[in-house]
Amino acid sequence: MIVIRSPEELETLREANRIVARILQELADDIKPGISTEWLDQKAERLILKAHGRPAFKGYRGYPKTICASLNEQVVHGIPSPSVVLREGDIISIDIGIVYRGYVGDTAATYPVGEISEEKRRLIQVTRESLCKGIKQARVGKRLSDISHAVQAHVEKHGFSVVRDFVGHGIGQQMHEEPQIPNFGRPNQGPRLETGMVLAIEPMVNAGTYEVKVLDDRWTAVTKDGRPSAHFEHSIAVTNGEADILSLPPEGGTAARSVTHVRG
Ligand code: MF3
Ligand code: CO
Ligand code: CO
Repeated sequence: MIVIRSPEELETLREANRIVARILQELADDIKPGISTEWLDQKAERLILKAHGRPAFKGYRGYPKTICASLNEQVVHGIPSPSVVLREGDIISIDIGIVYRGYVGDTAATYPVGEISEEKRRLIQVTRESLCKGIKQARVGKRLSDISHAVQAHVEKHGFSVVRDFVGHGIGQQMHEEPQIPNFGRPNQGPRLETGMVLAIEPMVNAGTYEVKVLDDRWTAVTKDGRPSAHFEHSIAVTNGEADILSLPPEGGTAARSVTHVRG
């Protein structure tokens, strides 16, 4: 069953998602060579607690950390560690989740570390665009797989591949609720979308093969061919019109904030 959220629930989900979107931006500000993923994780946890939430990932099926930090050929679920230090030319996918007043926020993005290769730059761009294409399909009357199909079509048009083994999901009082949202498939299949459904859409896109494997740590998913992977995720609410993107940072993100500081 796909839960339909009341307007009050949607506003709490927006608060939860807005908080993680803002924190993700603050983490992105710190991405540079020499920073460890442990350091980013500790900052994320501190900011989540300060916002009166708790990390949604920590303890989830035994996951030990607040964020997932996945570098280069790592697709998702990279475990932050003091021994993983960012280097020029890396790409890093950060996924962050919060439980706030009983509702979950979940968002992710991939960032360059300094100068990166042309292939990695295109991979990030195409993955971000594929999320937008998916979100555009999230409308009343469309069916679930219209999202999946739009993501896949965009990715494959650009010569990349979509991961099959991980999917997007409904989100609400639990991080992972029905329905599962694959990033591939034929259009016009599955449930019809209705106002009040809340979905976490999250394409994971590989430069080479779509095949992945999980490392011995039982979490880190990597591409089988060792080529890079990118991941973007937004939590959205279906409305009568365009999807309502809940995981947008508050007005005046990083850049505007510093301007505000200048203005005093
Ligand atoms: N946030 C991930 C997702 O987008 C799930 C993370 S699994 C965890 O669905 F164990 F790290 F929490
Ligand atoms: Co996520
Ligand atoms: Co998710």
